[in-house]
Amino acid sequence: MQIKHIESYAQIDSQVLLLTEEDCENLSSLNGLDSNLRDITESIIKRKDFDGKKGKNLRVPLIEGNLYLIGLGKKKKCNLNLIRDSLAWALRTAGRNHAKNAAVNLSHLKSFDGLSFALGEAFGLCGYVFDKYKKKDEHYEPFALTEIYSDLYEPEEFSRGLIFAEAQIYSRELANEPGCVINPESLAQEAEKLAEKCGLECEVWNEERLRAENMNALLAVGSGSKNPPRLIHITYKPVNAEKATKKIAFVGKGITFDSGGLDIKPDNYMLTMKGDKTGACNVLGIMKAVAELKPNIEVHGFLSSAENMPSGSSYRPDDIIRARNGKTIEINNTDAEGRLVLADALCLASELKPDVIIDMATLTGACAVALGNWRAGLFVNDDDLAEKLLHSSERSGEAYWRMPLEDEHISESLKSPFADLVNAGNRYGGAIFAALFLKEFVGENISWAHMDIAGTDFRDKEYGIYSKGASAFGVRTCLEYIMSL
Ligand code: BES
Ligand code: MN
Ligand code: ZN
Repeated sequence: MQIKHIESYAQIDSQVLLLTEEDCENLSSLNGLDSNLRDITESIIKRKDFDGKKGKNLRVPLIEGNLYLIGLGKKKKCNLNLIRDSLAWALRTAGRNHAKNAAVNLSHLKSFDGLSFALGEAFGLCGYVFDKYKKKDEHYEPFALTEIYSDLYEPEEFSRGLIFAEAQIYSRELANEPGCVINPESLAQEAEKLAEKCGLECEVWNEERLRAENMNALLAVGSGSKNPPRLIHITYKPVNAEKATKKIAFVGKGITFDSGGLDIKPDNYMLTMKGDKTGACNVLGIMKAVAELKPNIEVHGFLSSAENMPSGSSYRPDDIIRARNGKTIEINNTDAEGRLVLADALCLASELKPDVIIDMATLTGACAVALGNWRAGLFVNDDDLAEKLLHSSERSGEAYWRMPLEDEHISESLKSPFADLVNAGNRYGGAIFAALFLKEFVGENISWAHMDIAGTDFRDKEYGIYSKGASAFGVRTCLEYIMSL
């Protein structure tokens, strides 16, 4: 793929034009456009075939190629996220119509900050689909778009957008793989491959080492599967490691398949549970981008990976497990496994004494019930970090909602008569219960955020920058956050 600054409109397959309602009402805003394109657009608007309303997208066949008109709605409500999604739609559609290139007209939108970045991200993501297992028959529409031209093009910003996009594709590609391909061991191999390629350090702990290191909660969750658990630690250090301004650790839930274990899930709930490793895949995607963006901070990624399966060797309801920090946990539901694998990993991450820990996990159905498929739960023990993350999320376009981490009644329900904690509470407040459980394993004086991405991890239809399947939700906000430091 390639981008070039536009010099001539000759031989261009497709034109992309994003317009607000105001642009359509006041046609003088089109003055900067190529006269041919302006004339066509004006006549379509005058004929009332296009009015710039949000969601109103039009493909206009030209003598050569197509014109894609995209409605952004009211200017006041328009933001960079809508622009990015609209661009992705247009570029994807152009590619499917076998366009080789597209000219994206943006200069009339220059009051929006970050257009080149959004264009890079949209261009990088628009062609992605998880189709490697599909037969390429005549109904299959391969993606053809390889070049784009734009009247507003800042190369560095565009490349940064591409790096963000590639991180998301890396994460999606892994998360989309089924459980028969990605298990804890093959996930570890992927991490090692990535580290090797990007010049990162990578250490993998096998069962033996996990036992020696008291990672008993992770071991318990993995004990029912013939695919043994793994703890993966991947590290980025800036060239001048002593001068690093901060140390950040990301922790990802890497359940490569969640059957529920002995507390087995009903069939319709088990489907899509290959996606229960999304947190871990996201952490790898973030590490990949970090290796390319080279920020002046130390970044650690911990992936806590197991397969949650029922068998004669599974951990059981009623079992009592001692986590790495010595706290004991009574298991009252083997399907509440994510918090267990995260518990040990949070202890481990805390031992590095980082300034910030951010964990990402498809943790609770309750969070998806509360917030839906387009907004993740954000739990933070530090207001300053919360504000920074919410600010990053505004820029990234991923939506979060800050959830409470103080609740004396739910805290009370964490207590077990036989151990320090139980791993699951009642249905009500399930996402808060899980977050309060995790908090028990975060070291003192560490700013910590927990992102519950259950529900947002998977798209059941194509939309904007998203294709069907894994979304890599979380990657963009974390990268924005890192870049803001
Ligand atoms: N991986 C699931 C949560 C999940 C649900 C992710 C739906 C994505 C979509 C998690 O391990 C789980 O099973 N949670 C249980 C917890 C309960 C047993 C306390 C849940 O949410 O039902
Ligand atoms: Mn589960
Ligand atoms: Zn799970």
